[in-house]
Amino acid sequence: MKLLITGAAGQLGQAFAAELSAQTTSTFCAFSRADLDITSAEHVNAVIVREQPDVVINTAAYTQVDPPEAGDDSAYLVNETGPANLAEACRRHDIPLIHFSTDYVFNGSKKGPWREGDATGPLNFYGASKLAGEEAIRQIHKKHLIFRSSWIFSEFGRNFVKTMLHEGSLREQISVVSDQIGKPTCARELAKLTLALLPSVDNQWGTYHLAQPQVVSWHGFAEEIFTTARRIDSDYWNNHLVVQQVKPILTKDYPTHAQRPINSALESGKFESTFGLIIKDWRQSLAETLGALQAND
Ligand SMILES: NC(=O)c1ccc[n+]([C@@H]2O[C@H](COP(=O)([O-])OP(=O)(O)OC[C@H]3O[C@@H](n4cnc5c(N)ncnc54)[C@H](OP(=O)(O)O)[C@@H]3O)[C@@H](O)[C@H]2O)c1
Repeated sequence: MKLLITGAAGQLGQAFAAELSAQTTSTFCAFSRADLDITSAEHVNAVIVREQPDVVINTAAYTQVDPPEAGDDSAYLVNETGPANLAEACRRHDIPLIHFSTDYVFNGSKKGPWREGDATGPLNFYGASKLAGEEAIRQIHKKHLIFRSSWIFSEFGRNFVKTMLHEGSLREQISVVSDQIGKPTCARELAKLTLALLPSVDNQWGTYHLAQPQVVSWHGFAEEIFTTARRIDSDYWNNHLVVQQVKPILTKDYPTHAQRPINSALESGKFESTFGLIIKDWRQSLAETLGALQAND
């Protein structure tokens, strides 16, 4: 099976490349934005015709939550037009499209975890543009899998784990929001699970939530990062980290341009039962990520 990966220089794109390089069952070609700009319908179609993949995996996205202002169409161009271009080319050549979306399509007001059928209601431009991308794919091409995930971290790219480790190397006390909850999910686990289901995927097309279990706040996540680091190798991490206290603060005391959902937790039971795969706890993946960051140092 040949896979075509878009957004190859991003966090999830690099995780797919790493997982694919470690196995022999699939071949792949991976394109960064410079090699394949998904906002160009002609380019997307030409690359798919040239590469003739069996599956297209779209990890490309405009992922900055705060900058987009009303009138700036870059978020919609990448997150709606881009997926629509991919869906159209995949439909034309009868190729399944796997696409990633976000917890930010919800408004965060639900008490329990969000299910696939729950009403969407993005609070910010990024979430609205990602929802528009989902809807475009659903309208254009039946053979799609949309995986909504959340709080993605890994040894690659920019993410909360790497930001906390950096902050923790500079300051003894860090303040982190404690009233927003969600499910951290490792990019490598997302890639592993996606690759694991590919051989058996048949007509289970649709939208699935794919987040690792255990709900936590950003504050709890930060504490877990430092505790885990010091547990797995206290000598190494104590050399890097000066942080002693992670102080809980409220969202209202940490103003950001874009509003974020208070409850971002996604329920992934439909994914597990449909594909017969168990999603492991994010804390296991966190330990692996910290180990990889240490090994790459
Ligand atoms: N990160 C999270 O916490 C999170 C949470 C939930 C869902 N998601 C979703 O998961 C997916 C992967 O996210 P990620 O963390 O890997 O994001 P990322 O690290 O920001 O990677 C996105 C990649 O897409 C590329 N890109 C931007 N515009 C493009 C274009 N027009 N054509 C081709 N490539 C383009 C970017 O290139 P440049 O580097 O050149 O900008 C970047 O390399 C996205 O769909 C995102 O919405 C992410």
